Amino acid sequence: MDKYRVFGNPIKQSRSPLIHQSFAESTQQQLNYQSEFVAIDGFKEKIKQFINEQGKGANITVPFKEQALAICDQLSERARLAGAVNTLSFVDGQIIGDNTDGLGLVQDLLRNNVNLKNSKILLLGAGGAAKGVVLPLLEQQPESIVIANRTVSKAEALCHQFTSSENQSKLRACGFENVENDNFDIIINATSASLSGSVPPISEKLIRPDVVCYDMVYGKEQTPFMNWAKKQGSAQVIDGLGMLVSQAAESFAIWRGVKPEVETVISYLRKSLASE
Ligand code: ATR
Repeated sequence: MDKYRVFGNPIKQSRSPLIHQSFAESTQQQLNYQSEFVAIDGFKEKIKQFINEQGKGANITVPFKEQALAICDQLSERARLAGAVNTLSFVDGQIIGDNTDGLGLVQDLLRNNVNLKNSKILLLGAGGAAKGVVLPLLEQQPESIVIANRTVSKAEALCHQFTSSENQSKLRACGFENVENDNFDIIINATSASLSGSVPPISEKLIRPDVVCYDMVYGKEQTPFMNWAKKQGSAQVIDGLGMLVSQAAESFAIWRGVKPEVETVISYLRKSLASE
């Protein structure tokens, strides 16, 4: 049976085995997908070992996504621009790297009937999570993406990666306090602020009922950003659970050539989160 893994540290919390086993069932594929803990200095060795065991592919999670990029023989444009790899395929002795996080976000926005074409997007954050989503968002042809970050130089560096592309004019970098007078359609929180119980300090004036607010983080409760956005009057707030399942579906499609349906797994995870 074809073998897949998710490698990370920590890894116990990973929902990927459950998600991929459900995808395998729903698409009638025979495969074995498990999670495996990797020592902080043991990533490269672990991958080598898995390839020797005839592993077909792997998901890579924190903190190894940058190391995963470094070991690839071939990289997708998405992964190169994200500076990180979350999906490895082992094909004919080659290691092929991709990053499906941004596709997962785009798919989840579309699933929630959010229109991306010609939209004005505010992306909060310029760390790993933000980097991974810029190209897939640009591919949906928004009117503009403003990248706002606490450390403005990091937002500028992220925009700078696209200076040679036709999309350059669509991107702008700034600090949280400089976005006050813009009219956005979608605000995406790609900072890790929710994890420490805080909300990026953007103006409440940015939130109107028709502004969609998306937090890439998810949990049993609504995130601080979601609560804040709702309080300011946003009628559509979405957490990152659907993004998690959708990025997994994209990885599955890369490996197996068939894209599984995500709705059932999202509902199942939503219910199991609520009862945790
Ligand atoms: P990740 O991989 O989750 O993106 P990261 O690369 O460490 O993690 O990036 C964290 C992001 O969240 C950064 O944009 C960080 O801002 P800085 O670049 O200024 O550090 C942002 N961030 C973290 N905590 C925050 C907070 N309390 N308020 C606003 N932004 C925060």
